[in-house]
Amino acid sequence: MNLKNIIKKDIENILSQINPIKNYNPIIILNKRVQLGHYQLNNLIKIASILKLEPCKLSEIIIGGIKKKYIYQKITFSQPGFINFFIKNDWLSTELENIFTSPRLGIKRIKPKNIVIDYSSPNIAKEMHIGHLRSTIIGDVTARILHFLGHNVIRANHIGDWGTQFGMLIAYLENKKSITALQDNYFSLEKIEKFYCKAKKKYDSDQLFAKKSREYVVKLQNGDQRCHKIWKKLVSITMVENQKIYTRLNVTLRPDDTIGESFYNKMLPSIIEDLKNKKIAIEKNGSIIVFLKEFKNRLGQSMGVVIQKKDKGFLYSTTDIACFKYRYQILHADRIIYYTDSRQNQHLIQAWTIAKKANYIPENLLLEHHVFGMMLSKNKRPFKTRDGNTIKLSQLLNEATERAIHLIKNKKRYLHKKKLIHLAEVIGISAVKYADLSKSRNTNYIFDWDKMLSFEGNTAPYIQYAYTRIISIIEKSNIPIKKLKEKVILQKESEIHLAIKILEFEEIVLLISKKGTPHIMCKYLYQLATYFSSFYENCSILFAKKIKICKSRLKLSILTAKTLKKGLNMLGIKIVKKM
Ligand code: ARG
Repeated sequence: MNLKNIIKKDIENILSQINPIKNYNPIIILNKRVQLGHYQLNNLIKIASILKLEPCKLSEIIIGGIKKKYIYQKITFSQPGFINFFIKNDWLSTELENIFTSPRLGIKRIKPKNIVIDYSSPNIAKEMHIGHLRSTIIGDVTARILHFLGHNVIRANHIGDWGTQFGMLIAYLENKKSITALQDNYFSLEKIEKFYCKAKKKYDSDQLFAKKSREYVVKLQNGDQRCHKIWKKLVSITMVENQKIYTRLNVTLRPDDTIGESFYNKMLPSIIEDLKNKKIAIEKNGSIIVFLKEFKNRLGQSMGVVIQKKDKGFLYSTTDIACFKYRYQILHADRIIYYTDSRQNQHLIQAWTIAKKANYIPENLLLEHHVFGMMLSKNKRPFKTRDGNTIKLSQLLNEATERAIHLIKNKKRYLHKKKLIHLAEVIGISAVKYADLSKSRNTNYIFDWDKMLSFEGNTAPYIQYAYTRIISIIEKSNIPIKKLKEKVILQKESEIHLAIKILEFEEIVLLISKKGTPHIMCKYLYQLATYFSSFYENCSILFAKKIKICKSRLKLSILTAKTLKKGLNMLGIKIVKKM
């Protein structure tokens, strides 16, 4: 149920009767103070000026024209130009009842679309680091929400599992002893990353080694069995470690969701041929290049995108052109969303432009690049270890757990070691995730351990704790859910406030499904929890004078708990019974 939308539609209907040509876009907001009306039309003055009417006159037309009288208790005009909508308590109660009895909290399934979400996508032979956190967790929230709404979500973990780095690594590990050790699982990912760093140094300084590395790349590309085996092992060691991170982060990515760069390899030669035939790509100094007039270089000339190097090697762009083609023609994607940092925007637009020119994807297939800012430390510099290195994700999650252990001990909760670690993982990692998800993804944010682990403010511990408190109230009542047959009775302001907030959930979910902005959910859950607190302060639940009222308030509490739980689940944040 999306009340805001219902009101908006009602107004739009009336406006289109006055003049059907224009798009008025009425802005409806949820009022903070219920006495002034639950919802408000905020841009009446602007709409009135478009229609060349006095705001007061237009408000009369709108108020007089609204048909759904069963929803509205009253609709009033207030100076200088607002319309206030008071909703009938009885109608609110009926809607709450629908949510109460529905496992989907009353949210309808949407006509399903095929939606590809490209997220996480780390590179092989390296441990995941904090630069992968935002893509992984924000992408996962979008995946969860679109799936919940009924879409066919295709999670695409576009790992960087192909390219020169493998030539270097194979050249570095070339001797028999190392290869055997690798195959026998003696090398951890950490060790492989160290080899990779050393190999890269050698590649940059030793020409002979560089030559050998390139030869190995060609061998690998031509399907040499030994190289292929080593490559596969490197990919598998990395992905086993990455999967551990995904599990700890409670993200829904599974091994089957991995469709890395190497997957597109077999498509690349024919794409190059095709682009040459279609005169989209040309040969210049031995390289194959697409010149795009849509992009200009510093000299104002069309920008060239190299899609095949002189040595016949393909590039990151070539793979993404193939990837667009595959996602549209084979996966039948109606929508493709990328969670990759903003520096890759130009790269993606170029690949997408080329794919469109070649007719691999239709003109109207939109590229949705959901960009995000960086994590900064308190001094506003990129967040790094003390010695200036990138922070590994595993390191970050270990520290989160450690800090949560202290937090729990400080609260004087004494738990058996296993239980303590389990609870600390949930609290610590949720705090890290929530701190990130609660910031608008478009901006940088400051990573602050103390704030994210605080029990006050818009934090995971606050919401998780609020949830446990509500659950304990519900349990204390000893009234089975079956006995809560009557509809909720809404009398006090804080009850109505809470009721309207609960009903707002669907609107929040739909908004995030369009924009991929989880911070809206965090803000919503935080508000919901604070509205519950003021309801709890103002209305006795268990000691209400009449049993009817007690049951009604209990029902509101259950509705709040259900909504918090579902919202946290959409964010991939676990709940706990006791904190
Ligand atoms: N592997 C890339 C990186 O670490 C991200 C891949 C994003 N997806 C894509 N289709 N290009 O930067």
